[in-house]
Amino acid sequence: MNTLEANLDAAEATNAQLRKHLNPRWYPTFHIAAPAGWINDPNGLSYFQGRYQVFFQHYPADSSWGTMHWGHVTSPDLVHFSRAPIALAPSIEEDRDGVFSGSAVTGPDGNLEVFYTGHRWRNGRNEDDGNIQVQCRATSQDGVHFSKHGTVVEAPEALAHFRDPKVFYHEGTWFMVFGTCSADNRGQVHLYHSADLKDWQFDQVIFQDPDPNVFMLECPDLFPLATPQGAQHWVLTYCPMGKKKTGYLYRNDHTAGYVVGDWAPGRAFTARTEFTMQDFGNEFYAPQSFATPDGRRVQFGWMGSFTVPAAPQLDGDGWFGQLTIPRELTLTENLRLDSAPIAEFTGLRAPGPAGDHAPFFQADSITVEPNHTVEIADDAGPCELELTLDRAQSTAVRAGVLVHHTAPGRGTYIACDEQSGRLVVDRRTTGGPDLGYRAAELSGGKLRLRIFIDRGSVEVFGHDEGGASTVLSSYSFPADGPRAITLLAESGTAVLRDVTAYSLDTIWSK
Ligand code: FRU
Repeated sequence: MNTLEANLDAAEATNAQLRKHLNPRWYPTFHIAAPAGWINDPNGLSYFQGRYQVFFQHYPADSSWGTMHWGHVTSPDLVHFSRAPIALAPSIEEDRDGVFSGSAVTGPDGNLEVFYTGHRWRNGRNEDDGNIQVQCRATSQDGVHFSKHGTVVEAPEALAHFRDPKVFYHEGTWFMVFGTCSADNRGQVHLYHSADLKDWQFDQVIFQDPDPNVFMLECPDLFPLATPQGAQHWVLTYCPMGKKKTGYLYRNDHTAGYVVGDWAPGRAFTARTEFTMQDFGNEFYAPQSFATPDGRRVQFGWMGSFTVPAAPQLDGDGWFGQLTIPRELTLTENLRLDSAPIAEFTGLRAPGPAGDHAPFFQADSITVEPNHTVEIADDAGPCELELTLDRAQSTAVRAGVLVHHTAPGRGTYIACDEQSGRLVVDRRTTGGPDLGYRAAELSGGKLRLRIFIDRGSVEVFGHDEGGASTVLSSYSFPADGPRAITLLAESGTAVLRDVTAYSLDTIWSK
């Protein structure tokens, strides 16, 4: 048995111990999470040998961040998933202190080619004396068992942060982008190119965040997308470290967003837009995308936090961190990046009595009287709720839905706030530990909402007639007791149309 195999076995054994004590009260049923322990960034998203491959940053021994491994799940359809063994563990000098984030592509010889950051603390313990980060390569013939090939891109001595390779193929060449902190402390994206995935040459610095507070860009992802009118652009998603919290923007300790612009081999990226947040919820970070065989751009993000302790960690539940549901990315005419649940996600709707995907609640129209509530479920499991708020017919100052509604007054409130013109996710009364709310701007007209309610999270997709689409993804850890879903109108009426709720099956194949 080689060192990698031995370390993977040890990681599996530790994780099996932790799994015995897993508390399921907030554990997701339709989001990817580790069987126990911690996960962060999605890694290596790809389609290989007929299955979708989703890897993720994983610490198998605890519910907090630790020495990084790559966890692994696969799916035939992006909706139903099976667990695979932990794919990568530290086993060579370059990744001594962690197998950090990266990506995967199918190589010319049909192997799965993985690129990741080998991480070392310079002092062997923590970041106080800096990091040594290099880009490494590993390959697999079956997508399950990997051989490591060591460093393909060395770290320049001066750079403290140098990580998260995202590899893609374009016009006959392989390209790799990753994030760095420059010698003068600016967040940059570096580009390398290769003919064979083995030898990599520095190409150029293709982007520097114009914000001088931003000192590092984590998890950059560069991909082409066309507008509905057929204009071809390139989208650069990244996570700027050091962004200042301001007004409604960048409230999370870690922010993810994008710029849309143009890029071609041999050139730098030229931005046509400012940096824009992609998701306005409390937990959305380190997104990664890939192209599906039918040409869609699909993205997963990480819901979690490095800095704000969460209830499953504080209460010893044995796990923390989940990925978002898969989202299809599209570009609008005015160069906004929209995200929507992938179409096939409706396949998770649980069959009703007739065997089809019947809703457990359906109403064409509901008027909620001023300062009244209408309960649509007294104890809902994981589900999807759809409704349209007819804002022109409503007079409520705020109107929406309380989910994870436990004791009277406790729950997560998803509401349209007419005074601020924003869609709000407010978890002040949910059950903790992190309070506060997040709010995203709406344009106008009827507001269509799709809300995905798992045991410990909400993902809210809003679409309004003004054309804006708005996403907020947040943890929501309900207090004990039945978890109702309740419509609410404050200081006025709320007119709701096409209110439909579906139970959602688990993503895990039996
Ligand atoms: C982003 C990140 C990456 C790094 C990984 C380590 O969340 O900090 O930059 O590769 O997580 O787990």
